[in-house]
Amino acid sequence: MSGFKKDFLWGGALAANQIEGAWNEGGKGLSVADVAMFKSNLDINDYAGHNLVTSKMIEDAVKTKDAKDYPKRRGIDFYHRYKEDIALFSEMGFKTLRLSIAWSRLFPTGKEEVPNQKGIDYYKKIFESLKEKNIVPIVTLSHYEMPLQLSIEYNGWVDRKLIDFFVKYSKVCFEEFGSYVKYWLTFNEIDSVSRHPFITAGIVEDQCEHYTLDEAIYQALHHQYVAAAKVTKMCHEMIPESKMGCMLTKLTTYPNTCHPEDVLLSLERNLDNYAHADIQIFGKYPDLYLRKLKNNNIQIKVAPEDDEILLQGRSDYLAFSYYMSRTESADPNKEKSAGNTIMSVKNPYLASTEWGWQIDPVGLRISLIELYDRYQIPLIIVENGLGAVDTLDKNNKIHDHYRINYLRAHIQEMKKAIDMGVDLFGYTSWAPIDSISVSTSQMSKRYGFVYVDQDDFGNGNQQRYKKDSFYWYKKVIETSGDDL
Ligand code: BG6
Repeated sequence: MSGFKKDFLWGGALAANQIEGAWNEGGKGLSVADVAMFKSNLDINDYAGHNLVTSKMIEDAVKTKDAKDYPKRRGIDFYHRYKEDIALFSEMGFKTLRLSIAWSRLFPTGKEEVPNQKGIDYYKKIFESLKEKNIVPIVTLSHYEMPLQLSIEYNGWVDRKLIDFFVKYSKVCFEEFGSYVKYWLTFNEIDSVSRHPFITAGIVEDQCEHYTLDEAIYQALHHQYVAAAKVTKMCHEMIPESKMGCMLTKLTTYPNTCHPEDVLLSLERNLDNYAHADIQIFGKYPDLYLRKLKNNNIQIKVAPEDDEILLQGRSDYLAFSYYMSRTESADPNKEKSAGNTIMSVKNPYLASTEWGWQIDPVGLRISLIELYDRYQIPLIIVENGLGAVDTLDKNNKIHDHYRINYLRAHIQEMKKAIDMGVDLFGYTSWAPIDSISVSTSQMSKRYGFVYVDQDDFGNGNQQRYKKDSFYWYKKVIETSGDDL
């Protein structure tokens, strides 16, 4: 007996900046993603730092008028090929597609009073295509792609004005797309502002003159929480039956040993991770989190009305990404491994992907149980998948059994969690079609069920090919997860 209900939302997840391309078409303005440079791989030390961006890097990028070093500018040309791609998702039987709206297609600099009609028309065409195929959209308002101008002019979300810009943009989304979209998400992986402050919040390192980088990060986060709460309330008022979720990178942390210092460290990491969901689901900052800011001398400006705003705009459901667990040790000399925007102690019980991310399906069950027990609201996994090098064989086939094994093991754990009583209403794997990696802008780090003929440098004809996992996932959806 399957643990998955018949109306379980099976599907995939995408982000505009990683797929659309057409960075300078349809009136689109530059976004922070358009200045993200290609890296052939991430050095493990990059995960420990803040992935900082300087004004000079932005200036150089703005002067560059092609996509050569900036692969997110070309994406996989979803902008022109969306019909074909949505048809492929439909062929797999998708019930849902998570996708994001590029803020800079609607408001090229973020500051315009009137939105760009061409941007609105483009997303309407996408939503129409999804409707034709009976695919329910889940729309992220902000997925690492804010207008670059807001970063340059205000140092991004550090400035409170960003709240109004975001509310204006969200209002247009609700007005224009509200008849198509019931499920919304505010900020992708809001917690990741502390790990990569530029792509998530437009924070530029050398613009932090009047505050420390940590203050900039926590100030930006505060403004995003307030903005999220405001648009959650607005969404409920403007779109009947709508559901607005918040989203967390679920970084379940294990102690390396049962040494109390290791346990303490892992507890702290887990509380840090939860805090971001606590604020948006309970509508208030946890006391320990506030005290931690104070103890670390991090001062942020909070307006008198903010407490009430947070309380009034609580999330209806919790969405999260899960790729891996992490391990912490009080011993700084333990061997490290890379991960989803983090560095962790290497867990000897787990295998790793080609990019060093440790594979832990049971950790997904642990995460589901912890999250449901803590919040008692519906959960959805909006990202989970395996980044790997895939190769086309001479018959144009891709035998990605490693991806099937990864996904199967995670779905089995979801099933067990549901059978324990966890209210999980959907699963959108990352990503149903190969796209540009967020961390390295590589094309060769592939996640899809559909292969895209394009390499790291933009060579290839972008033709789409079905991988073995395409047929496997189709069967999973057809059988509601019974046949894995
Ligand atoms: C998530 C992001 O953290 O990780 C996605 O929300 C991203 O945008 C995914 O693509 C995988 O990371 P990467 O660096 O392998 O693309």
